[in-house]
Amino acid sequence: MAQTRRQFLHQVGITGGAGVLYSTMGALGLTTAAETPAFAAPTRNELNGRGRKHVVILGAGIAGLTSAYELGKAGYKVTLLEARQRPGGRNWTVRGGTEEKDLHGNTQRAGFSKGQYLNAGPGRIPQHHVTLDYCRELGVAIEPFVNQNADAYLYREGSTSLSGKAIRHRTAKADVYGYVSELLAKATDQGALDSLLTATDKEALIGFLGSFGAIGNKTAGFAYTGTGRRGYEVEPGAGLEGGTTASPYPLADVFASGVGNYFSFEFGWDQAMMMFQPVGGMDRISYAFERAIGREKFVYGAKVLGLRNTSSGVSVVYSTGTHPRELKADYAINTLPPHIAATVPSNLPADIVSALQYARPGNAGKIGIEYGRRWWELDHRIYGGITNSNLDLVNMWYPSTGFHGERGTMVGYYNTGANATAYGALSPAARFQRAVAQGTKIHGEMYGKDILASFSVDWAGTEYSRGSWVGWPSQTDGVYAKLLDPTGNIYFAGDHLSHAIAWQHGAMVSARASVSALHSKVMSR
Ligand code: PHE
Repeated sequence: MAQTRRQFLHQVGITGGAGVLYSTMGALGLTTAAETPAFAAPTRNELNGRGRKHVVILGAGIAGLTSAYELGKAGYKVTLLEARQRPGGRNWTVRGGTEEKDLHGNTQRAGFSKGQYLNAGPGRIPQHHVTLDYCRELGVAIEPFVNQNADAYLYREGSTSLSGKAIRHRTAKADVYGYVSELLAKATDQGALDSLLTATDKEALIGFLGSFGAIGNKTAGFAYTGTGRRGYEVEPGAGLEGGTTASPYPLADVFASGVGNYFSFEFGWDQAMMMFQPVGGMDRISYAFERAIGREKFVYGAKVLGLRNTSSGVSVVYSTGTHPRELKADYAINTLPPHIAATVPSNLPADIVSALQYARPGNAGKIGIEYGRRWWELDHRIYGGITNSNLDLVNMWYPSTGFHGERGTMVGYYNTGANATAYGALSPAARFQRAVAQGTKIHGEMYGKDILASFSVDWAGTEYSRGSWVGWPSQTDGVYAKLLDPTGNIYFAGDHLSHAIAWQHGAMVSARASVSALHSKVMSR
């Protein structure tokens, strides 16, 4: 009797384990290509009977934590040297009482209420990232992060009839999709695409455009005349109230305003809903790692002053403030940001130091503003999501949690590059003033009221990070690739050594790759 596909997969799953099931599904075309990368964590059994190797890990950010966690599970001895007084690196949740002095000399102390926080670094996790696997494994509770909300705003300054207006995403989408569909349906129907499409193709395309853009039929000239998708001036209601929609914005203004230019953000591989955040702050991940690894393995406040390959292993010189100490170990995993790693005195060969210097650190900034009234819910009926603008604040995030609570903390700006650096150059008080002035353009006077606290971060101006994430001039010209192999007994790891830069996932998969390579070397001896 012929096996059903399900029976076959079930059998493969039983005999071969989940990994085999997965690759079989892939071979059958049942999954998409880019699934979570395979990782066989080293196990304690494999190490049995071998001398216990000691690995010193530079940096207790996500790459360092992942490395220590996986090595520790397998029975390696690990020591983490971390310059900050906390785990996580850029995974940083600012709460009431958090104090930070930046490289510009500003000291901020967050005055957020209990339960309120700003994820100053990572704030969102896509479904396919291994970050969620670690949340599951470490018992970190997660909740949805609202990365897209039809009722959040798009705001564009300019000189069209849409400029300087807060327009709901749904309204902008209705008009952009509507006009694009009208134009394409007309062009198709008039024969402009006859060299590309058969009569059947044309019919199918016009059929699609009818529902995609909510346009009229051929008799109606495929006209887009607006729809309830835009939202209502008078909402549909009880009895005879059918609702009133406003007319679409003029076609030329819709495109000239650029109001559609942010739609593609949510198409991104890493930015599409569903997305998640840990309940209580992103740093729940870092502290869960710290607990699982064992607090006694961490040396906080430890600045690395030197790193050397030796004939038998590695030597690290570090200081916690008083006198320098030397730590000898069998191996090192260096997870420092590359531009910082390049400044540590070492006996690394010159081409490796140049490879570290090849990374270009960028900048990002955020401000958390705590309000004593959730006006975005009460006055705008916005429950989470992102308002995007062409102002220098760029993005604002409404909280994805605490709905209908008394307070809430908005991300008043999340920007990168020159915008981030412009805000970063200001004093924290001036950043706040500017954020409020800009945000008021979008939300009105309410934006400056009922404010309880604020805290801003400028990643380029933050010690031990000195940037948000790096870019490489190339990841294929051989320079970057030098850091993927160990140099003697020194391995490198971090999101910068992945194709998921600026994601915790990148740090985790890079750490896993280095742990696997290190373990193979140990096993081969
Ligand atoms: N991961 C970061 C974020 O989600 C940076 C990033 C932005 C990465 C956009 C890719 C795309 O904000």
